Amino acid sequence: MKRHTTLGEFIIENQKDFPYASGELSALLSSIRLAGKMVNQEIGKAGLVNIIGASGIENVQGETQQKLDLLAHELFTSTLRSRGEIAGLASEEMEDFLVFNDDIHRRARYVVLMDPLDGSSNIDVNISVGTIFSVYRRISPVGTPVTLQDFLQPGNQQVAAGYLAYGSSTILVYTTGNGVNGFTFDPGIGSFFLSHPDMKVPEEGNIYSVNEGNYVHFPTGVKKYIKWCQDVDESTNRPFTSRYIGSLVADFHRNLLKGGIYIYPQGTKLPEGKLRLLYECNPIAFIMEQAGGKASDGHTRIMDLAPEALHQRVPFFCGSKKMVEKAEDFMAQFTN
Ligand code: AHG
Ligand code: MN
Ligand code: MN
Repeated sequence: MKRHTTLGEFIIENQKDFPYASGELSALLSSIRLAGKMVNQEIGKAGLVNIIGASGIENVQGETQQKLDLLAHELFTSTLRSRGEIAGLASEEMEDFLVFNDDIHRRARYVVLMDPLDGSSNIDVNISVGTIFSVYRRISPVGTPVTLQDFLQPGNQQVAAGYLAYGSSTILVYTTGNGVNGFTFDPGIGSFFLSHPDMKVPEEGNIYSVNEGNYVHFPTGVKKYIKWCQDVDESTNRPFTSRYIGSLVADFHRNLLKGGIYIYPQGTKLPEGKLRLLYECNPIAFIMEQAGGKASDGHTRIMDLAPEALHQRVPFFCGSKKMVEKAEDFMAQFTN
């Protein structure tokens, strides 16, 4: 790999990897990259919004007061709509999916599902947030409007998935099923550069990430697993360390690089957990598996679950292979 590869170059160089390569998926990834830059720009101004708003000054779009998760939704939606690569889009921010219903879009072969701004409650306190996206080939006939079934495909049908993490630097990480690559944004130049080629998660990690404030609501298997993580055992490097940001993308990105497990289990407060199968769990699971890790609902592989509704929630166990397997052992052993 030559040095200083930009994301644009990388996408073109790897286009041949797609069995149905026609350039559409490459163009779609480029559109996501563009919208990601716009969202990155807005997030960078987040702390200024109130100051500007308080003085009564609006930005050119008059959008200073807009909530950033809705703004991110609109930036991605309008950028993807203004190009011809997708026939429809579903977003965490919208009850129903969007049909891009004109000639160009009806002929497109892909649909996108996304969480435009993940971890949005963290934005006011300068903590990392992200964007998550998932791409499927439509199953309805090309030339017709997309239908709900195009969006309710199992995760194992994804053709691409990725995320942007807007952190101390901004990084775009994605997979098209041939491994995972990360590209760090250089704000001076305005380009993403390949910084993390062929990312692999350590098979065994020592970080566990879970909102332990919900402990009393957790299933027994998760409680036992957490206690196991906290036990002292030199041979397995325990006790593990606990890290929880509360932004899935940021927690996931750290665990991907360092090795770890992220758990958002079911509980009596949220019977199916909190995370959304289509916008969060499937794309993150695809990336984790492509990096050598695992993702399940505690029993079943996330990407084999058959979605029933757009905003469906599922318990989520994701990370280093050995850690997820251990948590699954506890879940199998304690069934309440
Ligand atoms: P979103 O901002 O898209 O609604 O997602 C928030 C999610 C996820 O990012 C995070 O891991 C989780 O909520 C945190 O939930 P708790 O505050 O319940 O731990
Ligand atoms: Mn989210
Ligand atoms: Mn969100």
